[in-house]
Amino acid sequence: MKGNIVIKIGGSLLFTKDNEIKSSKIAEFCNIFKTRKNNGNIIIVCGGGLPARRYINSVRFFNGSEALCDTFGIEISRINAKLLIACFQDYAYPQVPKTIEELSVALLFNKIIVMGGLQPGQSTTSVALEVAELIQADKFLVLTDVEGIYDKDPKKFNDAQLLKKINYDQLQEIILDLGEDDQAAAGEYRIFDAVSLQILKRSEINTTIMSGTNLNNFIKFWDGEKSTTGTEISKE
Ligand code: UTP
Repeated sequence: MKGNIVIKIGGSLLFTKDNEIKSSKIAEFCNIFKTRKNNGNIIIVCGGGLPARRYINSVRFFNGSEALCDTFGIEISRINAKLLIACFQDYAYPQVPKTIEELSVALLFNKIIVMGGLQPGQSTTSVALEVAELIQADKFLVLTDVEGIYDKDPKKFNDAQLLKKINYDQLQEIILDLGEDDQAAAGEYRIFDAVSLQILKRSEINTTIMSGTNLNNFIKFWDGEKSTTGTEISKE
């Protein structure tokens, strides 16, 4: 891999369905970076995953606002980031940047930077795109638990088709099809949400969504192999 890269790692890759931490998987992921060279900045943004959703559901039960729910998602994603930093040890900057300013300071140290959320009203995918825009990333990668972006929800529809390439307008149509309720509530932002799309449209960062369930795909991607799986999002 050459240049600056930002990777969003979905919370689904950090926890099992029983809410256990996938420690070996996290170690496997971090080792990929430890054993491979890169000549640019690496920023990893962690999602909140199941623990975030559990806290958010409980806050909703107490009639907490969506903004309050979001703050729980942010805190949990930062704890997840801290866990990755623990795994990276000296390879990573030791603190989780909580603002763009803190990130700018972290960048001076030439270490892998691991972050969680920033402010309410968005997903960690939006955070990742904001920081990708900031560092003028050559590449933005989303690692999730499905193969990429489908024409409909693959967890609900067996005949959902994986889209290998997709442009901004097509992505917008898919996001709009999901409906407001499905994509704007705390804990419910989808693989790619409307806020993220807006940032992508203005920054035009080279974006790929792929499964991180089997990290061999990610290794191929990192090593620059063209035949990797997933969805590429581009302007045209
Ligand atoms: P995500 O929804 O991005 O994490 O953040 P996730 O669920 O693990 O991601 P996927 O599903 O794998 O892609 C968890 C929640 O934290 C809040 C939102 O409520 C979000 O749904 N959050 C996160 C914010 O409010 N602001 C942020 O900057 C980041």
